[in-house]
Amino acid sequence: MVTTINSSNIKDQILELKEQRNAILLVHNYQIGEIQDIADYVGDSLGLAYQAKSTDADTIVFCGVHFMAETAKIINPNKTVILPDKDAGCSLEQSCDGHQLESFLKENEEKNYYVVAYINCSAHVKSLSDCICTSGNAVKIVESAPEDRPILFVPDQNLGSWVMEQTGRKMDLWQGSCYVHVEYTRESILKIREQYPDAELVSHPECTYAVRMLSDEVCSTEKMIGYAKQSDAKNIIIATENGMLHRLRKEVPEKNFIPAPTQNCACSECRYMKMNTLEKLRDCLQSMSPEVILSEDIRIRAERPIQKMLELSS
Ligand code: 13P
Ligand code: SF4
Repeated sequence: MVTTINSSNIKDQILELKEQRNAILLVHNYQIGEIQDIADYVGDSLGLAYQAKSTDADTIVFCGVHFMAETAKIINPNKTVILPDKDAGCSLEQSCDGHQLESFLKENEEKNYYVVAYINCSAHVKSLSDCICTSGNAVKIVESAPEDRPILFVPDQNLGSWVMEQTGRKMDLWQGSCYVHVEYTRESILKIREQYPDAELVSHPECTYAVRMLSDEVCSTEKMIGYAKQSDAKNIIIATENGMLHRLRKEVPEKNFIPAPTQNCACSECRYMKMNTLEKLRDCLQSMSPEVILSEDIRIRAERPIQKMLELSS
């Protein structure tokens, strides 16, 4: 089908194409502000998964990273799922290879692990898991795991150790990490706190223990919005990817949000999240590619633990 677009403005072109394709535009909180502003929904991984599950659009165009678009496809086999850049990966996803996890589980078969996989992983890893979690529901998911089985938590060791602190449940942790969040250090945080002594610090659970310990709140990106709304503090330091500040400033304009610095940078950006641009978004809607394509065998096995998560956290 040849699609003609009449509009000259790129945002209008995207909206026009979106309508022609009967598409829904799902956008993660770390995307650039211009993409967030034309989204049908902006949110964290959990909110995005629920939106993907409930939409009746024919096409899902996903602005986030690849594993998020892949998750949307796993739960929507009959919809077309496209994304602006198929190379938008994630260091956590890369830190846990499906074949490696498969061998590990085989070598440790006698342990009969209950595998909880953070959603930041491949479809292959999801297919080997008992339940998926996001940063927004990880505590709840681990609390509902069977008491009589040891838990293997993959791939984020930092989120995993935070969940252990919250639940008191011991788990074996895969040694993966987010290259963005581990860049915040005790020193870089103490420095900004010195500059804003009355500010509160909100950090993402992918941050290290040293940073989480200094925080007033540790939570998912969506919960940061709720926290900021109810907090009495005027100044709030945010230790997560820079894109988050756009929504915070838009939805909580009366507060002052300060990006937490890392050792080397005034604020931090995920290079994968920032691969998406308005031009690539328009082009993918025009050509309907890149498209997420999955083997049906992996998809079916990966759907089960996602479905379980959605039921447990609803
Ligand atoms: P959230 O689900 O909290 O938005 O986190 C996603 C992510 O990739 C954090 O780095
Ligand atoms: Fe992955 Fe970290 Fe980027 Fe989130 S911020 S998508 S965890 S690399």
